[in-house]
Amino acid sequence: MDLQQAMTERRSIRAYQDKAVSPDILRKIIDRAAKAPSAGNTQPWEVVVAQGTALETVRAESERLFLDGVPAKADLPNVFNVGKLSDAWPEQLATRYQDCGRLILGTLGIERGDKAGRQAFYRAMYRFFEAPVLLLVGFNKQMPEGYAMFDLGLFAQNLCLTAHAEGLGTCIMAVGAFYPEMMRTKLPIPPHLQIGVGIALGYPDNEAPINRFERQYAPLEEWVHGL
Ligand SMILES: Cc1cc2nc3c(=O)[nH]c(=O)nc-3n(C[C@H](O)[C@H](O)[C@H](O)COP(=O)(O)O)c2cc1C
Repeated sequence: MDLQQAMTERRSIRAYQDKAVSPDILRKIIDRAAKAPSAGNTQPWEVVVAQGTALETVRAESERLFLDGVPAKADLPNVFNVGKLSDAWPEQLATRYQDCGRLILGTLGIERGDKAGRQAFYRAMYRFFEAPVLLLVGFNKQMPEGYAMFDLGLFAQNLCLTAHAEGLGTCIMAVGAFYPEMMRTKLPIPPHLQIGVGIALGYPDNEAPINRFERQYAPLEEWVHGL
């Protein structure tokens, strides 16, 4: 697939087909993603693959912790907390964040005061939208966060693009890394690893409205200076 096409078409997928991802394809896209640039070619990323029974357990636990109101405790401070928009955020970015949430809920027909509807959506999110694979991506705790997190982002974008080129869908998920301690008891996460984000992966349900709404992009004038 043409790179420009992949960059334009790729979008976060929040509804998946009930179809397994073959180990060969999984290996291929992870390997390709690792061709990403990194500071000093450190390649700091590490991936934990969650699928099958282990993923079902983690999904159920994540949903339970959410329903019990257990606050997120992510490994990395870069990860934001849903529903707790920091006062420190610039207003423009906070507005974009809120608009994104409104757009998604609006697409699902969930109105502002619809508590049950919102709860149902968040439940689905804490279950990683039933994706057949969840990739936890992170790096060694000993690494300073700045560039390693940057490198992780490059890896993640490569992964999402190459997955798209293979007909797969992805959703990078902060929520996928909200309960790392629980995940450490269920998944082969090595002790040195801190988790940055989860990436849901699977074949997209291309008919689902949640995978079809038009996304909003800020005009260049808002964020390019001196052009
Ligand atoms: C670091 C990061 C964390 C994200 N966390 C979530 C998440 O927890 N839940 C979710 O539904 N989408 C999540 N997203 C997806 C964003 O909402 C999405 O990328 C954004 O709305 C732009 O849409 P697009 O990916 O379709 O272009 C996350 C994206 C990034 C980069």
